Amino acid sequence: MIDCDTEVIRKGLALLEDKNYDGAVELFEQAKENSDDSVSVVLSLLGMAKYLQDKNNISEALKCLSDARYMAQFSKSNTAKLVNEYAQGTVDFGEGNKEVALIHFDNAKNIAMNYGDELSIMGYVLTRAKQIKNGMDFTLPIKSDPLVSLVKIGRSITAVTDINVLLKVIAEETKIAIQADRCTVFLLDKEKNELWSKVALGMDSQEIRFPADKGLAGYVVQTGEPLNIPDAYNDPRFNPEVDKKTGYVTKTILCLPIKNNNQEIIGAFQVLNKISGVFTKGDEDLLVAIGGSASIALENAQLFKEQKELFESFINTLATSIDARDKITAGHSSRVKLYSMLLADELGCDEKFKELIEKSAILHDIGKIGIRDSVLQKEGKLTDEEYKHIQEHVKITHDILEKIHTSDDFKMITEFACSHHEKYDGSGYYRHLKGEEIPYGGRILAVADVFDAITSKRHYRDKMPIQNVIDILVSGKDRHFDGKLVDTFLNISVDKIVRVFLTENHHSLKDEDCETLSHFNLRNICDFITDENSQNKHIAELFNFYYSGNKNNIEG
Ligand SMILES: [Fe+2]
Repeated sequence: MIDCDTEVIRKGLALLEDKNYDGAVELFEQAKENSDDSVSVVLSLLGMAKYLQDKNNISEALKCLSDARYMAQFSKSNTAKLVNEYAQGTVDFGEGNKEVALIHFDNAKNIAMNYGDELSIMGYVLTRAKQIKNGMDFTLPIKSDPLVSLVKIGRSITAVTDINVLLKVIAEETKIAIQADRCTVFLLDKEKNELWSKVALGMDSQEIRFPADKGLAGYVVQTGEPLNIPDAYNDPRFNPEVDKKTGYVTKTILCLPIKNNNQEIIGAFQVLNKISGVFTKGDEDLLVAIGGSASIALENAQLFKEQKELFESFINTLATSIDARDKITAGHSSRVKLYSMLLADELGCDEKFKELIEKSAILHDIGKIGIRDSVLQKEGKLTDEEYKHIQEHVKITHDILEKIHTSDDFKMITEFACSHHEKYDGSGYYRHLKGEEIPYGGRILAVADVFDAITSKRHYRDKMPIQNVIDILVSGKDRHFDGKLVDTFLNISVDKIVRVFLTENHHSLKDEDCETLSHFNLRNICDFITDENSQNKHIAELFNFYYSGNKNNIEG
């Protein structure tokens, strides 16, 4: 494409952005007469400008677009094809044909991705495709007001406390504010002297880490100076290795340190490929301002993460200390946690609820701290007085957890943990709650707690045969347990249950056995054992091998 055409097209796009459709139509009409190589591009844009100028008369616009399409088909120019797809999508979107518009924009995007267009139209296409997906009104991209961007970023990030989510939100908002194709936010890990971030990888995201003096981000973190590179491939500081691996074409780069209130560098922004032109001093200033609010949110999230880790290590240590005192039930708390999580998964509970379940399961027997060793570790039968004393542990669990000062969420953990000995018919302890009065989490813990107790070896007995275990659960439906939860528990595939058994003895589950067991649940295993003619005795034997280490431990 000849340079003067490129200039005209840029000017025309700027007029469209400013909603000066009359001006754009005039410019493209003139250019149509004079252009040679890029007549298809000009015609596509003219069609789009005409459509935006007068939506009641789209036949003119469509005529331009179809002529341009015809020419683009026989042209070697990818830009011609790309711009035509983009213009066609714009008209379709305006006419409410969102699905068709998205196909056109996807086509445009794919062309742009594969060769990198000289008009940088890809950013426009991506923005528009996003607008359509979000059902936003028809407006031309993009022109953002820096102040509005700042306020928007401030608002989005103050609500986020998860550091990984925060990194993504800041990167996404910055990308839009600066009008760039990509943005990565790197954080400085001072202890390891590394920079790290989360980058999108298909549907997932992956942590990347590298030494804090490597790359452009490393440079700005070390020197505190911004880097504004207008032409990456002509700059010795740019390392094209990543582009080679990913197929991405880096053109312009803006890299800036992120400083906290004390002017200490806590990370860096790396922004790639300005949608139109190169990064300006205004972009640098905006990025410094964004960094100002982002640093507060990032530091808070970092503190929140550390606090969370501290809290988690604290409760894990507490749980281990109970298990250490009560050798008979070693590992009980962590297995109850795993069974409760399996049950919560099978019930389809959300992540937040699962976290509450996890914590309350680990802590459910914390009250055993207040039980005398002579009772807790007694090997023979307990006297009535001793039994009453050991029952006090749930009330003590409640009193201990209640005193820990944390957020409101923790109150649910206390409620769940202290109701694991309540029974569905009201005959449990210590508050004698009945049915749905018992917190849901408490009912989940009750099933997991009993299942672990009766599947664990005790000094006075071997592991209970699995069919007896299942009998106890089933006969406890709506008496001891919430019946629906027992049914759900018995539906969990046994490969998952076996994995919990194995946490005790560090044996591993063979892949082929895991696959075999994954097709059956506890109810099936019980049926295979009790049905004398079952063809699946070998499955029950396999399960028992992992359960008790003895394939023959089947009492039919
Ligand atoms: Fe208990």
